[in-house]
Amino acid sequence: MSETIAIIDFGSQYGQLIARRVREHNVYSIIYQPGITAKELAQIKNLKGIILSGGPASVYAPNAPACDEKIFDLGVPILGICYGMQWGCKVLGAKIKPAKSREYGRAVITITDSKDLFASLGDTATVWMSHGDQAESLNKDFDVLAKTKTCPYSAVRNKNKKFYGLQFHPEVSHTPKGNIMMKNFLYDICKCRGDWQMKDFAQHTIEKIRDQAKSGTVICGLSGGVDSAVTATLVHKAIGDRLKCIFVDNGLLRKNEREQVESTFKDHFHIDLHVVDWSRQFLEKLQGVTDPQKKRIIIGHEFIEAFKSEAKKIPDARFLAQGTLYPDVIESGNKDGNLAANIKLHHNVGGLPAELGFELIEPLRDLFKDEVRLVGEYLGLPENIVWRHPFPGPGLAVRIIGEITEERLKILREADEILIDEIKSAELYRKVSQTLAVLVPVATVGVMGDERSYDNVIAIRSVDTTDFMTADFSRIPYDVLAIIANRIINEVRGINRVVYDISSKPPATIEWE
Ligand code: XMP
Repeated sequence: MSETIAIIDFGSQYGQLIARRVREHNVYSIIYQPGITAKELAQIKNLKGIILSGGPASVYAPNAPACDEKIFDLGVPILGICYGMQWGCKVLGAKIKPAKSREYGRAVITITDSKDLFASLGDTATVWMSHGDQAESLNKDFDVLAKTKTCPYSAVRNKNKKFYGLQFHPEVSHTPKGNIMMKNFLYDICKCRGDWQMKDFAQHTIEKIRDQAKSGTVICGLSGGVDSAVTATLVHKAIGDRLKCIFVDNGLLRKNEREQVESTFKDHFHIDLHVVDWSRQFLEKLQGVTDPQKKRIIIGHEFIEAFKSEAKKIPDARFLAQGTLYPDVIESGNKDGNLAANIKLHHNVGGLPAELGFELIEPLRDLFKDEVRLVGEYLGLPENIVWRHPFPGPGLAVRIIGEITEERLKILREADEILIDEIKSAELYRKVSQTLAVLVPVATVGVMGDERSYDNVIAIRSVDTTDFMTADFSRIPYDVLAIIANRIINEVRGINRVVYDISSKPPATIEWE
């Protein structure tokens, strides 16, 4: 059994991010709800340490989350982050009070003890704070490791109980040296050696799927993206031909997309793939529709119809495998008893309603996108799937402003192909997060040869982002933009102007609709 860190989630937005930071150091981690007992934790083979997450509550609030205080007798090091620190300090005899001046955002801590947790960090560090309460009047069992002007106990240690508390969030990227702190905790304090790898995740997950789907058929909707591809491959490795994949051609795909999916999954992986050509139905229903939300609703609805019609033909279909990722889970909020606040509803039109009656298999629920890519590489999926940029469920429909017609789809497909081709040739495809072309059906005047032209506009958008919730436009070199514009105008009939979108998100979104 791999070395394990137990994470107790007090309702933080960052619970999985902590787990991910631990995984980045090649240590396995499992997230538990606060109800887990010390006795249960003691049964984990090779438990090396515990991390108590942050959370939105105040430790004195009625029903504030708390866990079994006997965890301090287990003998393993415990790291409390934000609320986790406050809860740990309170249990170990400190007082927690509303801070005179609350700290949200960037702060600089002065390090006063760099023996273990802060080893090799220097005298100061930039950190990310987000707290209204803080510890006061610590007893003599505590050492202070760091402070800020307004928070005298920004980091503490209780040696007797091997407890460390951080008032700030080492797991977020705004704490640039948070990874060193995490490494110090895992390797120097918990004495981990780092014996866990992504391939262990894949193997363990395959076994879990085999266990869950002992008999019957599993169906899986393939979209061509990395999430559903990795999901299908894991399920296929677990149960072989009892997996049936469904790919819906909605007529809104990019050039050659359907053929690529067919050749990868049918020919290469020998997966039983059912392709449903529902493009006529989609395009008919979308005729004359210009409102983006209406487009999404129609496409979502048709997708379910197409999927249902094919699934009905598959005998003994009992399970549905979905490529839900952790950010999808956290964005949809309080679904399975996790305590995190509801931030926004997920808008994935590829989702299927629960009434379909399938038992869900969601092997990627704990992972972030880049981790899914690592699993995909380990499983031997081709580069063009593993590293494919996200493509929205409604496809090109939300990249054609206004009405969708066959002619507009054709123009956009050609422009999109040139764009991606040139971004790849410039070796930028893996550097930027998402690149796309938008057809703006606004005719502008141009001159081609000696003739006047009166054609439409293609907007190029390329963004850099880690979570797709905020994004900045990519600084694509002018020379590359020039080649793209030149090729699109010369090669795509109906386009005489190309523009580059330099808006950030927010206030703009990544897609134009
Ligand atoms: P926005 O445009 O909201 O996009 O900034 C953020 C990310 O989500 C993708 N996106 C969608 N994905 N169904 C999807 O499956 C949708 O309706 C949808 N709308 C946007 C978008 O491509 C980007 O990666």
